[in-house]
Amino acid sequence: MSTAKKEYKRVTVKSLIEMKQNGEKISMLTAYDYSMAKIVDSANVDVILVGDSASNVMAGHETTLPITLDQMIYHASSVVKAAKRALVVVDIPFGSYQSDPKEALRSAIRIMKESGAHAVKMEGGVEIKESVKRILHAGIPVMGHLGLTPQSIYKFGTYTVRAKEDEEAKKLMEDAKLLEKIGCFGVVLEKIPAQLAKKVAEHVSIPIIGIGAGGGVDGQVLVVHDLLGMTHEFNPRFLRRYMNLYEEMGQAIGNYVSDVKSSDFPNPDESY
Ligand code: KIV
Repeated sequence: MSTAKKEYKRVTVKSLIEMKQNGEKISMLTAYDYSMAKIVDSANVDVILVGDSASNVMAGHETTLPITLDQMIYHASSVVKAAKRALVVVDIPFGSYQSDPKEALRSAIRIMKESGAHAVKMEGGVEIKESVKRILHAGIPVMGHLGLTPQSIYKFGTYTVRAKEDEEAKKLMEDAKLLEKIGCFGVVLEKIPAQLAKKVAEHVSIPIIGIGAGGGVDGQVLVVHDLLGMTHEFNPRFLRRYMNLYEEMGQAIGNYVSDVKSSDFPNPDESY
């Protein structure tokens, strides 16, 4: 059952800011294809993220680095067709915005034009300020992503909690304020201490969406395959699994295999 306070026919970046002002928590989930996005959208999820986690979940890569701009556009255009209510945000993939602001703008424009998405997400703070500004000036809404930023995994070395030390926490707070100041409509905070995330959410007027950032923020995001228990090897502390689809799907598919082998399927009622 939905606990939304106000009905939104179509969630916009403005609706998200309004939700924060009204104290209504924002729900965000990933989707990478039409069928999953249809289910996610029908369940009234506010924001669908076409995350570059598609690189792991859909393509089986170890990191998010290999996924290309063309592949992200393919995933995003499938999701956009299904999303009737949710705001669709698309990750600009690694290597498509880091070299200079012009390249960043070109990538963002391709995503918006070719997929029909509503906004883009980018990892980083002050380092990507000029690129973010350039995209915003073109009228494209941008969501930031701070804390554990998987596109920088080889700089961090591990997927452990970020910003535990004062210096990194201070920079994260400054980056969040900077992203707010230049016009981002929201920021994802990934895997940082709950106290710090709460403090950031209290110090900025734009929505802060957490993943592994505790309950003191304005909304939550998860990878839908994790929530459904399809990715059974991935067990971070922040993940709440609502199903165990890896097992359930495996059982269903196993039953199909034995029905085919025993000639039980198809039966006369399933034949023409
Ligand atoms: O790519 C992704 O799925 C993400 C979320 C983890 C926030 O960026």
